[in-house]
Amino acid sequence: MAVPSGEGTAHVLARQMEDWYKDAIIYEVFVRSFRDGNGDGIGDFQGLTEKLDYIRELGATCIWLLPFYESPLNDDGYDIADYYKIHPDYGTMEDFETFLQAAKLRGLRVIADLVVNHTSSDHWWFKEAVANPDSKYHDYFVWSETGQEYSDARIIFCDTETSNWTLHPKVGKYYWHRFFSSQPDLNFDNPEVQEEMVRIIDFWLSKGLDGFRVDAVPYLFERENTICENLPETHQYLRKLRKYVDENHPEAMLLAEANQWPADVAEYFGTDDDPEFHMAFNFPLMPRMFMAIRQENRKPIEEIVRQLPDIPFHAQWAMFLRNHDELTLEMVTDEERDYMYDTYARDPRMRINIGIRRRLFPLMDKNRRAIELLHSLLLTLPGSPVLYYGDEIGMGDNIYLGDRSGVRTPMQWNGDRNAGFSSSDPSRLFLPAIIDPGYSFYGVNVEEASRSESSFLNWLKRVLTIRKQHPCFGRGTIRFLHPENTRVITYLREHEGDTYFIVNNLSRFSQYVEVDLHEFNGYTPIDIFGDVEFPRIGELPYLVTLGPHGFYWFRLRKEDGR
Ligand code: NOJ
Ligand code: CA
Repeated sequence: MAVPSGEGTAHVLARQMEDWYKDAIIYEVFVRSFRDGNGDGIGDFQGLTEKLDYIRELGATCIWLLPFYESPLNDDGYDIADYYKIHPDYGTMEDFETFLQAAKLRGLRVIADLVVNHTSSDHWWFKEAVANPDSKYHDYFVWSETGQEYSDARIIFCDTETSNWTLHPKVGKYYWHRFFSSQPDLNFDNPEVQEEMVRIIDFWLSKGLDGFRVDAVPYLFERENTICENLPETHQYLRKLRKYVDENHPEAMLLAEANQWPADVAEYFGTDDDPEFHMAFNFPLMPRMFMAIRQENRKPIEEIVRQLPDIPFHAQWAMFLRNHDELTLEMVTDEERDYMYDTYARDPRMRINIGIRRRLFPLMDKNRRAIELLHSLLLTLPGSPVLYYGDEIGMGDNIYLGDRSGVRTPMQWNGDRNAGFSSSDPSRLFLPAIIDPGYSFYGVNVEEASRSESSFLNWLKRVLTIRKQHPCFGRGTIRFLHPENTRVITYLREHEGDTYFIVNNLSRFSQYVEVDLHEFNGYTPIDIFGDVEFPRIGELPYLVTLGPHGFYWFRLRKEDGR
């Protein structure tokens, strides 16, 4: 970050504290799946606290917790019954606070899921709304006499739900829900609902959380004759929330989950003068990385990046390959979707709603080189990476479990009982650990991976260390280069006088590429993995040869040695 003249050091430092998310490496954890501390077969905060050193040593700087609040768990906690309580399976508020303190002691930030769009039908607001239609809580939700309104809104959980309206037999009216019918949408036209969210945010940030991953943000308001997504009212409210957070918790970060087309996602950043979210998941880019590597062509990536608007200075993309949901294919063309299903989800059980419910290693057929290349893209394209627990050890999935549970199975710590996840009887586990040959916890686990210098886990640790030494990857600009060979994707990342030249071979065969780098005539590329000097750049196109799925991260060193 350039220091404007006259600005005091303290001010600059304060600002860097505030944009910590630009250098973050985020690790997504489901408390339920990570480590069971009390032996009841379910992961909890006590267990997670035991494993904080593992997360720190991996190289993560921030933990994202999936919902851990009181909930009937019809949607693994995205159906909240009480925003102010910890789910008893996961421990007590004290356990949570102990965890948070232990994370801070290790320099780890923690953000949590905040589900604003809907509650659980078990939330007392909804129970009150049903039991007493005259109470103010009735108006906390969205009701209809006919269930005919907003018919242009799509159905997201299309494998389960047939309508966004469900008739409530006791009330005799329909209530609105964008997800499962057990998740009634909150009515954001009601100022009291808007206020409730502010109270919830205050409560958790005051405990020391560093921010929120805000769930399902496009759907807060409904209006007739629209698709009820990304409405101006929704942005207006979210900007109000951001303003509140900035004024009261200046270091807190808000990360938007908005699975939308490029221009629509970017709207969630707001502007530098009127900001909305600090970060947003790069949903448009994610499936295109998988497409590019299978098609051995950089076009899908370059095309989508071209469609992504420039984002404000305060904003940062959250880059990811996989997460706790299906690999969503809602924001690709019909043709692209067919291609993705055909290549990555041949078995219909691998599909759910509009997406693919598989983990990274099975998706890539354990092709180590291809997986490393995907990480090269993840870590060098603009944004901060978000890693999903278990993918760092190459965990498999279980497509025979219901819904998205197959990618949420117990973390595999070692080859002992229950993968070292829990001391309970195996039949008591909340979900079975993976035992299929090839992915069984006997062989695929942290202990085993730690032992081998060449494991993916140890490779990733080294790569994350290197990435952290070069702030340009989180903060720099990007310029694509366009060499003739379209199997190779190359770009420059630039930040405060530092330049990096990245070359990725999307092909499973060796490739060479000639890149026009004449503007860097006289510079020397240094491969930052081994600090290896490559031949100096001249006037002529620069020749790079790459092995199958190979890549280089070069720093360009000027003639004067800097
Ligand atoms: C997005 C979450 O990632 C997903 O797991 C959840 O089911 C829906 N939002 C509804 O909250
Ligand atoms: Ca437990």
